[in-house]
Amino acid sequence: MENVFFERINKINPKILEGLKEKKEFSFRINRHKAGLETIEELKKEGYFPKKVDWNDYVYTLPMEERKKITKSKPYTANKIYIQNLSSIIAANSLDIDKNDWVLDLAAAPGGKSLIFSEKADKVSAVEPDKKRFFRMKRNFKEHGAKNIQTYNKDGRFVYKATGALFDKVFLDAPCSSEAHIDLNEGITWWNLKRVRRFSKLQKELIISAFEALKPGGEMIYATCTFSPEENEEVIDFLLSRYDNAKVLKIDLPIANIQEGITEWENKQYNPDVKKCIRIIPHNAYSGFFFTKIKKES
Ligand SMILES: C[S@@+](CC[C@H](N)C(=O)[O-])C[C@H]1O[C@@H](n2cnc3c(N)ncnc32)[C@H](O)[C@@H]1O
Repeated sequence: MENVFFERINKINPKILEGLKEKKEFSFRINRHKAGLETIEELKKEGYFPKKVDWNDYVYTLPMEERKKITKSKPYTANKIYIQNLSSIIAANSLDIDKNDWVLDLAAAPGGKSLIFSEKADKVSAVEPDKKRFFRMKRNFKEHGAKNIQTYNKDGRFVYKATGALFDKVFLDAPCSSEAHIDLNEGITWWNLKRVRRFSKLQKELIISAFEALKPGGEMIYATCTFSPEENEEVIDFLLSRYDNAKVLKIDLPIANIQEGITEWENKQYNPDVKKCIRIIPHNAYSGFFFTKIKKES
């Protein structure tokens, strides 16, 4: 299976393999429910000198060696900072959220992205079917001072049946084969093609639910932390084949380690609009990620 994995990744982009080996930095953001930019001065007093990213004043990186140690710092224990990957942060920020929007996070635990949405919108609904993860997520919201998130211990596939087209914005950070988290030093132990296909089927059911739950005129993001086109472009292609009013929107990102969507994979041709999808190639504090913005036209 290892060979199949490497062959597929090399076909998508050989730079991915370099990126999977290189993890020199980690990132965090300031939790705006509890803190502001003064947090950086507090960290400096404790001997940390974070580097700001150039696309957000509240997002910083530090060397990986400090990842464990910082969890003992005052700002961390007071929940003033939240350790989160840059790719997750930039994808969550790509959903244009207004204060009055009602945002649905359809696969939400541990809740890092819901926390970002809750800093921007008055109302957020977070769905997570796994009981253990659900209660950990609730605790996470409480600890970080987010009082505007309603939580639902439900299966995301059926949410739209209860809500109808209710939400202004939806984020679907789909369960996936997590290829971006494979540690090449440990070997490819849990990856196989059957798993990829199983997730692809679940993701297609979830994207239908996400799109149905969106108000006409609303926007959603579909995301995964995996590289396989079956779990990415194929899922978007599936949605586009089912709904004439689903339109892929272009996303402008201020980073260089990205690649446009793939329109052909293993003798399958996808809708040419999947070109507008974004694949983040892992690099420093950016882990591998895939995301697409979709509008529901009236
Ligand atoms: C990639 S993680 C989400 C990470 C989260 N958005 C964050 O940023 O903190 C995917 C989540 O989907 C959940 N999940 C699995 N099956 C699901 C389903 N049928 N409906 C909704 N969520 C599901 C998993 O338990 C997992 O917590």
